[in-house]
Amino acid sequence: MKIFLDTANINEIREASSMGILDGVTTNPSLVAKEGRDFKGLLKEICSVVNGDISAEVVATDLDGMLREGRDLAKLDDKIVVKVPLIKEGLKAVKCLKAEGIRTNVTLCFSPNQALLAAKAGAYIISPFVGRLDDISTDGMDLIEQIITIYRNYDYDTQVLVASIRHPIHVVESAMMGADIGTMPFSVFTQLIKHPLTDIGLERFLADWKKVQQ
Ligand code: E4P
Repeated sequence: MKIFLDTANINEIREASSMGILDGVTTNPSLVAKEGRDFKGLLKEICSVVNGDISAEVVATDLDGMLREGRDLAKLDDKIVVKVPLIKEGLKAVKCLKAEGIRTNVTLCFSPNQALLAAKAGAYIISPFVGRLDDISTDGMDLIEQIITIYRNYDYDTQVLVASIRHPIHVVESAMMGADIGTMPFSVFTQLIKHPLTDIGLERFLADWKKVQQ
């Protein structure tokens, strides 16, 4: 499974990238707003650090606006994947952008039918939001299972990106189900590395080694 960071913070991206296990980045308008930086400048910097797909979202909700913003974003770097919302005009935009060779990530997916439509329209990536479903007492991971089954049944190429990941169990379940990508906040990424027994074991090894040195 590819591991993406769900952030627009360049320091977090640099840190994860230095470990050699970062496959891409997803951003959204809320994450970009938190950084208080020029959007395009920030995207260019992210592209210079990460060797993988970088999702950048349009904010227009009409077809012409989405196409204009999508083309503009795609011009910045070959790594850019244009994120469009899963609405009627968004599906039209996916179809048009695909015809121009521009890859799309269809975001704000909350149902298997929405995911089916995105694949049929030609999405490169579908982003189902598991955490936000969990928040309303609906098991987000059930949606991932349904989408993977549907895509396998019909051999759709669209990659399943598990979005709105909130904790390491989401990551384990995504990988076990065979999701293509998991995107997560830096805090969850860091949690994946940690294990208390690793820390205790290392502490003991170092303490024992000190005795040898005396
Ligand atoms: C990523 O593509 C999504 O925008 C993001 O995962 C949403 O996460 P949130 O529900 O924690 O805001």
